[in-house]
Amino acid sequence: MVKNLLIKNKSKYKQQIENNEHIKEHSDDFVIECRNLNLWYDEFQALKNINMKYRKNKVTAIIGPSGCGKSTLLRCFNRMNDVIEDCRIEGEVLFNGRNLYDNSADIRLNRKKIGMIFQKPNPFPMSIYDNITYGPKIHKIIEDDILEKISEKCLKRAVLWDEVVDRLDDSAMGLSGGQQQRLCIARALAVEPEVLLMDEPTASLDPIATQKIEDLILQLKEEWTVIIVTHNMQQAARISDNTAFMYLGEMIEYGETTQIFENPQEKLTENYITGRFG
Ligand SMILES: Nc1ncnc2c1ncn2[C@@H]1O[C@H](COP(=O)(O)OP(=O)(O)OP(=O)(O)O)[C@@H](O)[C@H]1O
Ligand SMILES: [Mg+2]
Repeated sequence: MVKNLLIKNKSKYKQQIENNEHIKEHSDDFVIECRNLNLWYDEFQALKNINMKYRKNKVTAIIGPSGCGKSTLLRCFNRMNDVIEDCRIEGEVLFNGRNLYDNSADIRLNRKKIGMIFQKPNPFPMSIYDNITYGPKIHKIIEDDILEKISEKCLKRAVLWDEVVDRLDDSAMGLSGGQQQRLCIARALAVEPEVLLMDEPTASLDPIATQKIEDLILQLKEEWTVIIVTHNMQQAARISDNTAFMYLGEMIEYGETTQIFENPQEKLTENYITGRFG
């Protein structure tokens, strides 16, 4: 039944995409694409003419010194900058070929399809089970047996099930930081996203919890596309397929992770990854 429901949701979504005359020419290999993206906070330009494509089922890491615009860029992908006063955006962000910033774009649907995980785990102050089922309920899934299956499936995918199976009705606030972050990932997966955005998801975690999240990210890319901001160079090298280096609002270099770390083409990239600044 869960499968049927998910298939039904998927076909509804596909239909919405197919019906939309706003689809631009793009390659199906890429799920998100920025075209000439510029962003200002009032007078200050935080993103300068970003052009980037993110491959499906890959992990892309965004690296760069503090304040270079990594979080700002990530927030453009689910329109979280919309809520910031005096923030102005020019250019396009295509999601499966449709500009997220078109007047016709369905922001609610796009937020469902593009999930976000933050630096600090942010479980809702409710039970573990209610955290996971919150999103599906908003999207009108109300049958208890379906919600239970979604909860089990997502907690298993986020490699948390074994640790919480006996305490699903306990408060999520009682979990450790690492468990809370995996819960947030499970919660994001519960609404069947296509892309997971992660802004320094392990920055507040200890090495063991970090390792668990990194292993999980590597598993996730079998089904999802992950875009992760990290300050941890080793982490970017370990888990990402592609890496983008940003500096002062510009995309300086973007390529395969091994190339960026072993053979950077730009002096700035080399200086940053060898620890000369940042
Ligand atoms: N809401 C805001 N209003 C005004 N300026 C902002 C706002 N958010 C970010 N900025 C500025 O935009 C620039 C980019 O910020 P952003 O948070 O994207 O950087 P970052 O690369 O994520 O940094 P960090 O690694 O420290 O998280 C910075 O100069 C920052 O001060
Ligand atoms: Mg940031």
